Amino acid sequence: MPFISFEGIDGAGKSTHVQWMAEYLRARHYTVLTTREPGGTPLGESLRKLLLHEEMTADAELLLMFAARAEHISQVIRPALQRGEWVLSDRFTDASYAYQCGGRGIATSRLSVLEQWVQQGLQPDLTILFDVDIGVAQQRVAAHSQPDRFEQEQQEFFERVRNMYLQRASAEPERIHIVLTNRSVDVIRSDLAVLLEQYAS
Ligand code: ADP
Ligand code: TYD
Repeated sequence: MPFISFEGIDGAGKSTHVQWMAEYLRARHYTVLTTREPGGTPLGESLRKLLLHEEMTADAELLLMFAARAEHISQVIRPALQRGEWVLSDRFTDASYAYQCGGRGIATSRLSVLEQWVQQGLQPDLTILFDVDIGVAQQRVAAHSQPDRFEQEQQEFFERVRNMYLQRASAEPERIHIVLTNRSVDVIRSDLAVLLEQYAS
């Protein structure tokens, strides 16, 4: 069954749609696993707390993201796919390219070494990139009471993250599908339902 990842800058609206999509598929009698990165396993959730709140170098940040991902793939994602379930992940490796390469400036060649090592060819069948202006996303995130280490970054950081996402989407249009989220949740959902039909047969 398909492995779908959800991506976008903070506040783009990913999380809002992951749960909805899982319910939409379950109503059609599919078995669906929803998960997230960084996280998805006990070790991954512990690493997530460090990643979101402890100061660290960009290299340490990238390596911890991939440590969490290695655990996530072997303990959760591959077993679920082998059981024939849909896997919906709130973020995956495109986020590392966008945040650690685009945002922090690490060379993409470094990341692709880790990607090959940890993923062994595993890639999402579909990646939905939720895209919106930085200003709109920041207003949405501002409602959070305690912004994490990433959410505290400046506008320029998110411009670089967004640009890397868009660059990857134009390089891999067959995998990465852009959904504009400056529209109402209902309009976005009807687009997502149409998109899912292509994978639900
Ligand atoms: P992300 O997971 O991408 O950070 P969320 O799904 O948590 O974003 O959404 C951030 C905030 O924006 C939430 O308060 C959510 O209710 C709101 N939101 C999400 N999508 C929309 C939309 N299309 N229009 C208006 N508000 C939205
Ligand atoms: P997330 O849970 O999606 O945050 P939110 O729901 O608030 O948007 O992700 C947490 C943060 O981790 C997010 O700011 C992006 C960052 N991140 C990376 O920098 N690299 C990665 O590889 C991943 C998976 C996430």
